[in-house]
Amino acid sequence: MSEVPVVRFEIVDGIGVITVDYPPVNALGPGVSEGIAAAVDQGNADPAVQAMVLLGAGRTFIAGADIRRFGKPRPPSPRRSYDALDESAKPVVAAIHGYALGGGLENALSCHWRIAVPSAKVGLPEVLIGILPGGGGTQRLPRLIGAKPALEMIVTGRHVPAEEAKALGIVDAIIPGQDLRAEAIAFARSVIGKPLRRISAMPPAAAEPGLFDEMRMSIARKARNQKAPYNCIAAVEAATRLPFAEGMAEEKRLFQELENAPEAQALRYAFFAEREIARIPFLPKDLALPEIKTAAVVGAGTMGGGIAMSFADNGFPVKLVDANPEGLARGMQRIRDNYAVSVKRGSITQTQMDERLPRIQPVERIEDIAECDVVIEAVFEQLPVKQEIFAKLDAVMKPEAILLTNTSAIDIDKIADATKRPQMVAGAHFFAPANVMKLLEVVEGPRTAPEVLGAAMKLGRAIGKISGYAGNCDGFVANRSRIYFTLEQNIMVEEGALPEQIDKVMVDFGYPMGPFAVNDMSGLDVSYFTRKRRLAEDPNYRTLPIPDRLVESGRKGQKTGAGWYRYEKGDRTPHVDPVVHRLIKEVAAEQGIEQRPFSDEEILHRLLFASANEACKILEEDKALRASDIDVMWLNGFGFPRYRGGLMFWADTIGAQEIYNQIAAWHQRYGDRWRPSALLRRVAESGGKLREAKAPRLQ
Ligand code: 3HC
Repeated sequence: MSEVPVVRFEIVDGIGVITVDYPPVNALGPGVSEGIAAAVDQGNADPAVQAMVLLGAGRTFIAGADIRRFGKPRPPSPRRSYDALDESAKPVVAAIHGYALGGGLENALSCHWRIAVPSAKVGLPEVLIGILPGGGGTQRLPRLIGAKPALEMIVTGRHVPAEEAKALGIVDAIIPGQDLRAEAIAFARSVIGKPLRRISAMPPAAAEPGLFDEMRMSIARKARNQKAPYNCIAAVEAATRLPFAEGMAEEKRLFQELENAPEAQALRYAFFAEREIARIPFLPKDLALPEIKTAAVVGAGTMGGGIAMSFADNGFPVKLVDANPEGLARGMQRIRDNYAVSVKRGSITQTQMDERLPRIQPVERIEDIAECDVVIEAVFEQLPVKQEIFAKLDAVMKPEAILLTNTSAIDIDKIADATKRPQMVAGAHFFAPANVMKLLEVVEGPRTAPEVLGAAMKLGRAIGKISGYAGNCDGFVANRSRIYFTLEQNIMVEEGALPEQIDKVMVDFGYPMGPFAVNDMSGLDVSYFTRKRRLAEDPNYRTLPIPDRLVESGRKGQKTGAGWYRYEKGDRTPHVDPVVHRLIKEVAAEQGIEQRPFSDEEILHRLLFASANEACKILEEDKALRASDIDVMWLNGFGFPRYRGGLMFWADTIGAQEIYNQIAAWHQRYGDRWRPSALLRRVAESGGKLREAKAPRLQ
């Protein structure tokens, strides 16, 4: 235990004040739960104490159990805070500010009253890290607010704002929060002498018939291959049929099934990887980052509009520039339509739309954005077009403005060449649709100033993205590691695997859609033109005759009613098409490629080993910082199933040695595209973990 007590107890005006002080978020680290229990016992033993309050020091109440302690042996707690609070003979009031999540809310639910400040949020997000609330949350919350709303909260893990928590009956009162401690003490004084409201003494929650089966059915698609959401349902179900103590035993049993399962390990890893990716260790710690208050986006196309929406959604005023008045009007209309659809779907309110839309100001002249702190160019993906824009930006933007380019493929340095301030230029690679996708690759050019890199990373977070570092190389990190997946996907079809088989393997693996269905959705023509361009640049470029032939025969994907699959009018369901099967056979015969059956395992391994090998090469070249950053990119950019941790985390479940051996064998058989990475070989030989691999510059 640390020297400074993690839980303090003091008596103010007859009220025992229990303060948890374990920065940064008062997680239930070593000594915290025991400290709370000891304080409650002390309060009960002291005749000077008439009631108690439980609150958190610093920015938050309690963010939950200490996630770092899961999966490791923990000394059994002699007395859990939940029991001590529940059993207290004197009333205890939880006073919530910031977050009461997981074990934090469970401690609050073990108290006899709960009050919260208006900005507080409560929730039981355990399912998101592959477990279930193990501090009585599954038994107390349904008893308090009813089985249905409790089930919804526990299965989704969502954060519930204070006002809603009050309406649901989770908190008893909203307090102003000007002086949390004083207000909590006043509330505690007001409940002295009132009968204790012990949730554990309430009868099992009532549930309407069919509630749990309906929930199981409704999550079946999203929760496939996962256990935690189902155990959450089973635990809440127990709260509707078992007395409290038996329900608690059932909760414990269901919790223990999950804690060390691969799903929970992967989700915990993803939680910490998503925080680690924000750190760029080679930036000086005391680097002063320029403040960004105003922004501009150049280009009112789909991408530019989506980027502008990300700013508006997060409270930033943003100017959207397009020299073409019709294009600008169309872009603004698209933004309005997108917001209107969100309102219709209920994902935002009309009031939110009315707040956000006016933050986006359309302008036609680049001169009108000269004073903005940052500009993101999102025009057509061609170097001369981008260079022309950057030359103009260089001429008009204030000297300290940060100039970012949203490109997925163009050399940042060549774009910077168009300016006299290459140090102010960096890449900001958004993923489509930019207002929805969480990932942002921040690309450092060879001349990008450290402050600009740091500011761009921070800006990404401010607009709700997960920013990840990428070095300047073809495809940067995310797409470059993905490209070999796409290549193998197509080559396997030439060799005899069918698109629907490959799609099924990947959907069974956990992707929301198979790669061919995704290609049909995005349109096959874009990559067709990229291939043509690449072939013109490099005669040895490996073309893909089957998708080329599809596009040339008018099958461009969903938008033309046919691509890898056939589509009925007005319906996005892919139907297997014998025409495609014939075309595949024809091309294979023309190319002299012998077709053969593929096992599901070979398909999965061909796709993911190819990408893992490339990911290692990216790390070797210092273009990505950590293997775990690449995992975060796959989770947030490509729909890789989160409960598998990410590409490299998954690769470790197979083992670096086995992957290396297989890649070496494919290298012999297929040639250079399977050249094994030196880093992969080193990790394999040392028996290490791929997910722990780092760039040389971090070692
Ligand atoms: N355990 C350990 N560390 C935690 C933590 C937790 N529960 N919650 C946050 N942290 C750490 C983060 O890793 C980060 O550390 P770093 O600075 O070294 O990177 C630091 O606290 C700050 O976290 P964020 O960067 O995420 O800060 P934000 O302000 O953006 O978000 C938060 C705060 C909403 C509380 C967010 O951290 C969060 O969602 N935390 C997890 C909450 C959770 O899942 N709780 C349930 C835990 S399981 C449980 O309680 C089981 C129980 O039922 C028995």
